[in-house]
Amino acid sequence: MYRTHTCGELRLEHQGAEVTLAGWVQRKREFGGMTFIDLRDRYGLTQLVFDEKTNPEVTEKMKKLGREFVIQSKGIVLERSNKNKNIPTGDIEIEVLGLQILNASEVPPFTIEDESDGGDDIRMKYRYLDLRRAPVRDTLVLRAKMAHAVRSYLNGLNFIETETPVLIKSTPEGARDFVVPSRMNPGEFYALPQSPQQLKQLLMVAGFDRYYQIVKCFRDEDLRADRQPEFTQIDCEMSFVEQEDILNTFEGLTRYMFKEIKGIEISEFPRMPYSEAMENYGSDKPDIRFEMKIKELTRLAKGKGFPVFDDAEFVGGICAEGCSEYTRKQLDALTEWVKRPQIGAKGMVYLKYNTDGSLKSSVDKFYSPEELKKWADLFGAKPGDLILVLSGAKEQTQKALGELRLEMANQLGLREKSVFQPLWVVDFPLLEWDEETKRYYAMHHPFTAPKPEDISMLETNPGAVRANAYDLVINGVEIGGGSVRIFDKGLQAKMFNMLGFTPEQAEYQFGFLMNAFKFGAPPHAGIAFGFDRLTSMFAGLDSIRDTIAFPKNNSGRDVMMDSPSSIADAQLNELNIKLDLKQ
Ligand code: AMO
Repeated sequence: MYRTHTCGELRLEHQGAEVTLAGWVQRKREFGGMTFIDLRDRYGLTQLVFDEKTNPEVTEKMKKLGREFVIQSKGIVLERSNKNKNIPTGDIEIEVLGLQILNASEVPPFTIEDESDGGDDIRMKYRYLDLRRAPVRDTLVLRAKMAHAVRSYLNGLNFIETETPVLIKSTPEGARDFVVPSRMNPGEFYALPQSPQQLKQLLMVAGFDRYYQIVKCFRDEDLRADRQPEFTQIDCEMSFVEQEDILNTFEGLTRYMFKEIKGIEISEFPRMPYSEAMENYGSDKPDIRFEMKIKELTRLAKGKGFPVFDDAEFVGGICAEGCSEYTRKQLDALTEWVKRPQIGAKGMVYLKYNTDGSLKSSVDKFYSPEELKKWADLFGAKPGDLILVLSGAKEQTQKALGELRLEMANQLGLREKSVFQPLWVVDFPLLEWDEETKRYYAMHHPFTAPKPEDISMLETNPGAVRANAYDLVINGVEIGGGSVRIFDKGLQAKMFNMLGFTPEQAEYQFGFLMNAFKFGAPPHAGIAFGFDRLTSMFAGLDSIRDTIAFPKNNSGRDVMMDSPSSIADAQLNELNIKLDLKQ
């Protein structure tokens, strides 16, 4: 038997017991004749004490120990004279009577403690060592608990957990596919699923009625803090349901998760149409933990001789409470911030509603105090507030104001991590126009159903057609998205046509789905949650990376395995692939 207890288990009540522990040497400290070792395993830390006088044989072995050696030690549980209130085993220590070195370790490249001295890159390269650190491991333990809760909730509602294949067919919509060459079918490729979308719809045709899967998805897209090339969805589909049923079921799942895992009751679950989200928050995933809504100033700002506003399609602003004392330097910094390419504003106008009631703006030359007061009134501003104004093309300016709103909220500490405010954003547009390729793309995916009352506009005004699509947003993060599906093959064919597919192309790409729809497809709808994002939110992290045991870095590389990597010529030959790399 390697151990009688774990390193996180022993308490004062075990005093006097003879125990055997196994684990890693985290730290060794010497204090005149006594040596203390923090022994670590997954469950915690326990202090071992070696008294050089009483046990020379054990002392001899102990002297050989370095950081991260794997040892087994037998001893007696004693009450500590110097208790450590910071760890659960802090009241006791083990007086060591026997010691086995199970494995030696090289000196690790960084300290394996809660606070490490290792930089990001080195910790990624030695991820298995980083995973020994409690904060990193705790997130993965949380993730496992969350997966368990998801299964327990959905199993309780009679969902069938079903695995779908990972080698599937490439489809042109959405992000780029990762592809896999087929040795047995020269010149042909599988694709890794961006999501099991079509497969889960086929399971509905198959009569499964309720499906879910905690499933890996793959997307070859640019990476950000909330994006990994391979990530996990809680993927679900239901038959004989409408939007309302999906929203209720998954509101239920969300509430259950918050209650089970974090002990939090979610009180409100508001819904907001996409158009309102864009207008008031400049985002399709508004953070509604705070107000600071965008207001349109176009009518008040135009026609007073300020050329920038006169030429703009849209003028709008936000009111940051209590910020009228922002200095020149702070305002300049904000102006630079909105001018960064990611935000794309040309400049920023401010209006200070000073605490003495006076108004001071960067455009005093063009607007009288009475006119500026009208701006302030529009925002319901009070003395002490600061109004920030941007202008330009409508949607772009709204989005820039949306970003500025988040930045100001960050500066004002309005985005408290322990407050959770979910929101359903509904009524998304069905289609999105792309200026570059001059065609419409499905905003969600091509299987999303238009709102029945908007179908008549499909031909006349496609851009105005709304979809039965919904996103679950929490604290400004898109946690999930889904839609009611088209289940009529005629409407699906019309949709493919709208998206620029000839009937032949549609047949080639989606023939299997269209075929299935000939055999009695039930009405169905579904949703997928980003599991990494939900975990990262529950763990209070800013990135999804540490919710994944072995993540990729920002360039999509696994720096531990050093992947992607080139493959042998023999392998290439077998796959009938000739490389012609253009540098
Ligand atoms: P969608 O593309 O909106 O919908 O994806 C669902 C959710 O998955 C998460 N997500 C990601 N998480 C990490 N890294 C990524 N690269 C990444 N991309 C997406 C987000 C997102 O809300 N098949 C549809 C769902 C449906 O209609 O049922 C789909 O995949 O949290």
